[in-house]
Amino acid sequence: MKISLIDLTRQHNELSDDINEAVSNIFQKSSFIMGENVKNFEQEFSSYLGIKHSISVGNGTDALVIALKALNIGPGDEVITTPFTFFSTAESIARVGAIPVFVDVELTSYNIDPNKIEEKITEKTKAILPVHIFGNPCDMIKINNIAKKHNLFVIEDACQAVGAKIGDKMIGTLSDIACFSFFPTKNLGCAGDGGMIVTNNDDLATICRAYRVHGSGIDGNRAYNLINHVNEEIVAQDNGNNTIYNPMKYYNYLIGFNSRLDEFQAAILRLKLKKLNFYNEDRIRLAMKYNLELKDTKLILPSVQNDYRHVYHLYILNSDKRSSIINFLKEKGIATGIYYQIPLHLQKAFEYLNYKKGDLPNCEYLSERTFAIPLYYGMTEEEQKYIIDSILEWNKNNE
Ligand SMILES: Cc1ncc(COP(=O)(O)O)c(C=O)c1O
Repeated sequence: MKISLIDLTRQHNELSDDINEAVSNIFQKSSFIMGENVKNFEQEFSSYLGIKHSISVGNGTDALVIALKALNIGPGDEVITTPFTFFSTAESIARVGAIPVFVDVELTSYNIDPNKIEEKITEKTKAILPVHIFGNPCDMIKINNIAKKHNLFVIEDACQAVGAKIGDKMIGTLSDIACFSFFPTKNLGCAGDGGMIVTNNDDLATICRAYRVHGSGIDGNRAYNLINHVNEEIVAQDNGNNTIYNPMKYYNYLIGFNSRLDEFQAAILRLKLKKLNFYNEDRIRLAMKYNLELKDTKLILPSVQNDYRHVYHLYILNSDKRSSIINFLKEKGIATGIYYQIPLHLQKAFEYLNYKKGDLPNCEYLSERTFAIPLYYGMTEEEQKYIIDSILEWNKNNE
């Protein structure tokens, strides 16, 4: 049997009639940018999370960059983050000219170790940027307490954790500002690139809205006033109900970005958001089955704190014989993926930060041992049984 790490066709086949209808409606209206789907999706996403503002953008990386800029983080500032994540977490810190400061991770949750954060805080530290890696929430209570004590911002990288919770609190609502990615393989994925910034802070929301469209229009004007502590007159927004020509578009107040979610992506995301809880429950069910069936093996299984809802963006195993099990599964036709082979502090791109091997031992240890096995909505019982049986067979051979 051949099983891929992620198979999106199961979900898309179920939704294809609805997606086709939504796409056709958009062509009918031919309003492709910042139309009603984007507006509605932002509102629906806010209701889903229970947050005041959702600002959609072109991708999760832009969400992080714009969030950092909105907090006025830039050259000379330091931002504390994890080295055990996708490159773009730290890339976005560097992109705004700030310095990523890496703190080692916990060997249990694989998330940033809150007990090691304080020793890295300097007078240049502006923010902590935790990542809920693989869908497993970070200890936001400890992180927020540290941030409060040292007067730092907290930006959640929730790109892998849409729908995750701590108690009854949604991930993404536990910080000053949070970022999501809708990359196709994410738990809520579109058919291309997409991202979202969320916040309860009205001023940050205005500044993010301005940055995503060239610092223009009424939001650009308002953001300019907020950033410069002035109250310059806001030019009346009058587009004469003309959806194609909007004069406000050509008033620019800040140097921003072109980073918008398009109508097609928003329409697809609206359809999937309605079923997100169901999709996440299915992932959790599959993960629980793996946990149960693999508990007597030598593999280390995901570790989740009591009262946390891990949404298993990836189901990660941990073994000192990673190559052996990966090769065995490959021969059985089962795909796996290594997350993350090169810790960020050892990436060539961050050579200039002068970290060396041995600096962050837990992360380096995990980078040699962790890997993902297939988990996706629509996986059949037969497929999961085949994966479990194959792993048990490998385990028996390697006792
Ligand atoms: C933890 C994390 N941060 C940031 C990103 C960036 O998101 P995107 O690929 O949408 O730019 C991703 C996803 O790819 C991610 O997994």
